[in-house]
Parts: sequence; structure tokens; C-alpha cells
Amino acid sequence: MNLASIQAAEKKLLLNTYERNPYLFVSGKGVFLEDENGAQYLDLLSGIGVSALGYGHPAVEAAIADQSKRLLHTSNLFFHEQTAELALRLTEISGMDRVFFCNSGTEAWEAALKLARASSTKAREEGRKIGTKFLALEHSFHGRTMGSVATTSKDKYRLPFAPVMGDVEFVQFNDVADLRAKFSDEVCGICLEPVQGEGGIHEVSKEFFAAARELCDSTGALLLADEIQSGLGRTGKWFAYQHYGIQPDVTTLAKPIANGIPMGAMMCTERAAQAITPGMHGTTFGGGPLACAVAIAVIDTMRKDNLLAHIEEVGGFFKQQLEGLKQRHDCVTEVRGMGLMLGMEINSAELAKQVAAQMMERRIIINRTSETVLRFLPPYLLEKEHVTTAIDALDEILKANTQLAGSAPAGDQAHG
Ligand SMILES: Cc1ncc(COP(=O)(O)O)c(C=O)c1O
Repeated sequence: MNLASIQAAEKKLLLNTYERNPYLFVSGKGVFLEDENGAQYLDLLSGIGVSALGYGHPAVEAAIADQSKRLLHTSNLFFHEQTAELALRLTEISGMDRVFFCNSGTEAWEAALKLARASSTKAREEGRKIGTKFLALEHSFHGRTMGSVATTSKDKYRLPFAPVMGDVEFVQFNDVADLRAKFSDEVCGICLEPVQGEGGIHEVSKEFFAAARELCDSTGALLLADEIQSGLGRTGKWFAYQHYGIQPDVTTLAKPIANGIPMGAMMCTERAAQAITPGMHGTTFGGGPLACAVAIAVIDTMRKDNLLAHIEEVGGFFKQQLEGLKQRHDCVTEVRGMGLMLGMEINSAELAKQVAAQMMERRIIINRTSETVLRFLPPYLLEKEHVTTAIDALDEILKANTQLAGSAPAGDQAHG
């Protein structure tokens, strides 16, 4: 099937959830994707932050080939060789004590929410006073299942599915006074993304993160850090919370963990973990041998190739170059983010849309989120020369399009 026939068939057959861009990718190598005509595209999005080691990485290929020949699935009724190996690595790099494996980001976040509720139930049974309410943040995005959408701030993700999980209140982003005003012993968990992704690459301030930690400590509520987009090296540290020197009680991880094989993980402290006993939570596929084997290969490759330092260096260069664009183009209002999780705010949604589309025409893949933010989540293998190619293209496009700035907003493309 070619692109046109695939488009026609999908339009008829699939649930109408995605507005796909009209490109058909058939393979990839390194930081490049190849379309059905053999054209190469520089990928600055990595499948929304997933293909961390790019495409066709030998360590990933070897892990898939080896594990697929031996064993794909046994269920969580039995042991297999890879779970403990992976959990050991994840607890080492996160500072957490225990891991629950699942299959996607939203499933990891649901586990985090359920853990916070279970922890508060246990506390009440022990005679402590703690409620069932969650505080979540303005601009947050935690996924598409009922608990995840309940803690996601944008109405369009939540309201059509009402009633979603109850007992959630939203706090103004980085507003410590609002957080303190809304916090009480009714709260069982504070939810935050240390660097918000779908919301437009916004970093939680150190003061806000510290206040959330202090408030949770004062009652025994859990601090839940969603690192599904920012985790596993994306920001130049294993977890973005490590930039702040603040340890949450629970963190979630998904996108890059198995480089495209679906996997999620919820990690927590020993204290939080005490609320869960066998049978309370689980999954058929979660933590299967294939996903675990690939995730082990991803972490070992990142360690062996010192990729955190590489992300910091290339990400720092990328951010500096984006700042240069801001100096040269009035339509660029802000550059945000850390490591290879970067956003450039444009003063017009229509212009941001045009720029993303024109980058695609030049065979450079970027994405727009929250209407006005150009988002960059490239594979960790990105080199400075790739950054320069992208910046030159952006420079030319912004120069040619400046006259569009200031026109009416258009719909956004985010569907993480
Ligand atoms: C911070 C965050 N949490 C949760 C999710 C949901 O992950 P998934 O799409 O794998 O369910 C996303 C996806 O973009 C995310 O960025």
C-alpha cells in the first residue's frame, strides 16, 4: 500500500483520534527516518521522546533478536531472567526502592495514583488523618486513562469523558502561595511533571518543588513526579528531579525506556510501597522478557557511551543556538527546557504551525505543542552538526514567515 491508499483506508477504518502528518516512514538509521521514496528526514522528535537511541541501534537490535529467539512472554505468575536485572538498574539510577512494570505512560501514572490512594487508605486504617484528594498542576499532562485525564489540566482532554476520577484540584503553575492555600490533610498526593512536556516545556521552579516536598512531609502525603517525558536522561540527568536535589516518593517512566517497545514503570520508596499487597494491582503484559531485555540494553548503552554527558553538551549547544534565534527574530518570545527537552515559544499559533510544517517539508521533523511552542525531543545520539542544520533551516523559515506573526490561533498537534 502507498501513502494515499493507507490514508484512505485509515480514514475509513480507524477511530478518529489522530491528525497524522502526510508522511509514510518505512525505516530509520541513527537520527534519520526514511520515507517510502527513500528520502531521509532528520528526526528531532524521536516519536515524541521515545527512540532515545535512534533507529537501528545495534544494542537494541541484538537485545530484540536474542530475547525473541528465547522467550517473549510467560505472565507475571512466574519469574523470568530480566525483571530483577532491570529493577536493579532502575533503582540505582533513580534512588527509588521498588519498581512496578507496565506497558505505557498512562498505565504507570495510574499505578502512581492508585499507590497514593492505597497509601492514604493504609494511613487512615492506622489512625492517621489523611484524605483522598490530589493536587495537580495547571498545564499538566499525565495521559489518557480516567485517572490520568482527571489529573490533566486541559479541559479538552477531560471534560468530554466526565465524570472522570474525582477529588482533584488544580494549582496555578509555580504558584507556591496557591499550593499552600490548597494543601491540607485532605491531600493524599501532589502531582507534578518536573519539566512539563505536552504543556509546552515548562520547568517547575525549585521553590515550588521544595514547597511540595515540605508539604507532603508534613502530613505523609506522597509527592508524585511524572517523568514519563523528562525521565531516563532526557534532561541530561537520569531524572529531572535530580537537577533540583529533591527526591519524590513516586516517579513514573515510560517513553524512552525500551526505545519503542511499549513499556512503563512506576518507582517508589519503601515506605510508599508498603501500601501494596499481592493481588491489589497488576498487568498481564507488564515487565515481559522482551521489553525488559531491551530496557536493560538501553540503560547499559547509555552508561557505556556516557550519554548523559553527551545530552548535556549537545542540549546546551542546542539551547544556546535557539537563544540566538530569539535574538534574531522578534516572533520568538522564549526558549525553555533542559538537555534534549527543549521548547521555543512563538508569538503566533499560526506561525508556529507554519514553521513546523515547513521544517517537515525540509525533511526535519519537529512538533508543535500547546499551540505556540515548537518542541524538540531528539534522539540522544544527536550531534552538534545536526543542531546546526536545524537552526539554519529555522532561521531561514522564520525570516521568510515573519509577516504571518500575530495572526489568529490554530488547533494544536499534541497527542502525547
Ligand atoms: C508527562 C507525561 N505523562 C504521561 C504521558 C502518557 O504516556 P502514554 O502516552 O505512554 O500513555 C505522557 C505522554 O506524552 C507524558 O508526556
